[in-house]
This record gives sequence, structure tokens and C-alpha cells, in this order.
Amino acid sequence: MDNRHYLVDKYHPLPEDYVPYDLDIAPIPFTCTIDSPKHLMCRTVFDSLSKMHSDSLKAGLSIYGISGYRSYYRQQEIYLESVIKKGLAHTLKYIAAPGTSEHQTGLALDVSCPRVDYELVEEFALTPEGIWLKENAPKYGFIISYPENSYEKTGYAYEPWHLFFPCKNSGYYVY
Ligand code: DAL
Ligand code: ZN
Repeated sequence: MDNRHYLVDKYHPLPEDYVPYDLDIAPIPFTCTIDSPKHLMCRTVFDSLSKMHSDSLKAGLSIYGISGYRSYYRQQEIYLESVIKKGLAHTLKYIAAPGTSEHQTGLALDVSCPRVDYELVEEFALTPEGIWLKENAPKYGFIISYPENSYEKTGYAYEPWHLFFPCKNSGYYVY
């Protein structure tokens, strides 16, 4: 039985122990070391991801994976670290509380490029890589979950680097 979770947001949390059943090393270059769990995504996205990445290379672009799957507990660490370092208001806008991150589904991926030093910053949207992704990612089944000026709808600030692969029949609302 396919028990995959597709829809995750502030109001649809995942169980603490939810781990996707088909995690594997995603088929694009990442900035992290090969042993890092940041490389992991669900195998179900691999064909689309691989095609999108090879087409981006053909377009002369340099897109890198930064962070794919994150466990509930890793998200908890990131969340708490952010509260301590950046405060609660900033954290609520940028970091999902544990159990509410799309990264826990294994269907989300943060990407960046050398032009912004591989950082997850809003300026990524202005790079050729960010512009290409905004236009082309949906052709491969990926959405930018937290678009510009959508805070009221998504509850998060603009994250041009955060891609999500809503699986078929998920009922996921594409903005
Ligand atoms: N940055 C997104 C909202 C996350 O933490 O999943
Ligand atoms: Zn993300």
C-alpha cells in the first residue's frame, strides 16, 4: 500500500515517526558531502529531477542540491537553532516547525547556485538559475511552494530555492 504523505503545511503535520519508504541518493550534484542525509529524496522524483537537471545543464546553468530529506528530529534541531539565533518571528516565517516541513516527505528540495555562493537567499530568484527554475520547474512537476507575495496563503516568506514535487492525486493545491 502506498502510505506516502503528500500534503504538509502548518495545519497538516506529519507523524513524528514518518519516514518515506523509498529514500535514496538524489541524482544531481549536491554541495554537501556524500554521506550526508541532505542528499536523500524519494525515488519517485528521480526521473523528473534528473531530466530537469540535465536540461538546465544544456541551458548552461549550474543548479546544485543543498538539502533534500530532513527527519522530524533534524527539523527540530534547525527550528530550535533558528529560534535561538534569529528569534521566533524570523523563524516562523522561514522555518517549518518539526512535523510540518515538506522536507520530511522526501519530496522537497532546496537548490542554489555558485552565483549566490550556494546560499539560500532571495537573490537566487534573480540569477539565471532562479529565473529558469521559476519558469521551467513546473514542466517537470515541481512547484515553488512559497512564492513571492504569498505569505497570507502559505504562512512563509518567499523561498525561490524551495521546490516540491506534489505527486499525482495528492489533491495538492498548485499556486
Ligand atoms: N523552509 C521551509 C519552510 C521548511 O523549513 O520546511
Ligand atoms: Zn526548503
